[in-house]
Amino acid sequence: MNYIDIIKKRRSEYDLNNKITVNEEDILNFIKDAVKYTPSAYNSQSSRVLVLLREEHEALWDLITEEIRKVAPAEGFEKTVSKMNSFKAAYGTVLYFEDLDTVKQLQDNFPLYAETFASWSVQSNAMLQYNIWTGLANMDLGASLQHYNPIIDEAVREKYNLPTNWKLYAQMPFGGKNSEAKPYEVTNLDERVI
Ligand SMILES: Cc1cc2nc3c(=O)[nH]c(=O)nc-3n(C[C@H](O)[C@H](O)[C@H](O)COP(=O)(O)O)c2cc1C
Repeated sequence: MNYIDIIKKRRSEYDLNNKITVNEEDILNFIKDAVKYTPSAYNSQSSRVLVLLREEHEALWDLITEEIRKVAPAEGFEKTVSKMNSFKAAYGTVLYFEDLDTVKQLQDNFPLYAETFASWSVQSNAMLQYNIWTGLANMDLGASLQHYNPIIDEAVREKYNLPTNWKLYAQMPFGGKNSEAKPYEVTNLDERVI
């Protein structure tokens, strides 16, 4: 496949299931390779990933539902539950973090760029998110990008016993596709690329 065709294949897919034909080990090996080959500022390798599959993935979306329940109005909450259940219906979730200790070390070592290191860390994490999202699409797996941080940060850290220096940036549920995302119109391309 041409690279542009793989790029086109990545979409926000919300209508997911837990029936996948891809080998679980292939998914995990791909994610490890994506972490290995995605660039980072000063080669700091500050991105961290937690991959949850099957029951662990389902438990995460139960946890997220309960954390939102604590802060959201009770009225209309069933809509949130049904949305969370749509993510839970998938096969797995990739959680994306940045190691803030690594970022801090860079800031201390290179004071000239201190202010930009925080931004570079997020940019690098976004590259990793995109690489994994696109790679999953290339395996015919659907995924979407979700942000229930910071509401869920403490609960996630506690449940998975994660270091306090891991900052959560995104959650990516993935699985088999029940349907395909609809095409959308791209506007102002000539103004966006000059
Ligand atoms: C930085 C970023 C943050 C996003 N956050 C969310 C989100 O929190 N929830 C969600 O459902 N989609 C989120 N999206 C997905 C976008 O809405 C989606 O990529 C866009 O509408 C284009 O659709 P496509 O992904 O199918 O090409 C995010 C995308 C990006 C790049």
